[in-house]
Amino acid sequence: MHSSSDDPDLRKEWLQQRAHGALTRFHDTTPLIYRPHINVPKDVTDWIAGWGGGSLFLTGAIGVGKTHTAWETCRLWLKAFYGPDRAWNGAADIHTYRSTALFDALRPDGPDEVRRTLIKTLQDADLVFIDDLAAPKVTEWTQERLFEIFDERYINKRPVIITSDVLPADLGPVTGPRVASRLGEMCRGSVVLMEGNDRRRGEAA
Ligand SMILES: Nc1ncnc2c1ncn2[C@@H]1O[C@H](COP(=O)(O)OP(=O)(O)O)[C@@H](O)[C@H]1O
Ligand SMILES: [Mg+2]
Repeated sequence: MHSSSDDPDLRKEWLQQRAHGALTRFHDTTPLIYRPHINVPKDVTDWIAGWGGGSLFLTGAIGVGKTHTAWETCRLWLKAFYGPDRAWNGAADIHTYRSTALFDALRPDGPDEVRRTLIKTLQDADLVFIDDLAAPKVTEWTQERLFEIFDERYINKRPVIITSDVLPADLGPVTGPRVASRLGEMCRGSVVLMEGNDRRRGEAA
């Protein structure tokens, strides 16, 4: 008995189509200014190639390119997910959130069921990217919900990508100490300090 998946050429073509579909959908959800492809630091490509279950932390001053780098990293991660070097592992489930929007969505005043579904989604996703962790003010309630998300990812070695203008060790006041401690371990070896000028100010300075 032969099925189409036994044929290596057909399987390859099928994988390429899946990758193309996933990358197209991801492109459509990427904010316009972050769509152009950029070069990412070597630490980032190393992190993608490593697939060790570790997380990635991009830090640096305002405007150095953390968010753009993170979007490009997600895209490259997605490409690698469907690439030939990796055992086939179902469809990639990737979620991106600005921390302000995430913290809003976790607030206690929304419907319980919606919040539970969001927490479960973020616990289980293959990759979660949270942009600008440190910006918003956080209540103890939100810190508890963050703990639920991060602890589950921590114990199952599921990666996150975080951008922040503070280091993991200084995130305690935002995320609570338990999440900050876990993040420190999750991102150990992949904390990338981005340096340079504020790109939003342009070249002439
Ligand atoms: N490597 C890069 N090459 C060209 N433009 C970049 C690069 N990184 C960032 N930018 C641009 O610089 C601006 C600021 O980048 P952004 O990622 O939003 O900074 P941050 O998140 O560090 O505040 C954006 O317009 C972005 O598209
Ligand atoms: Mg940013």
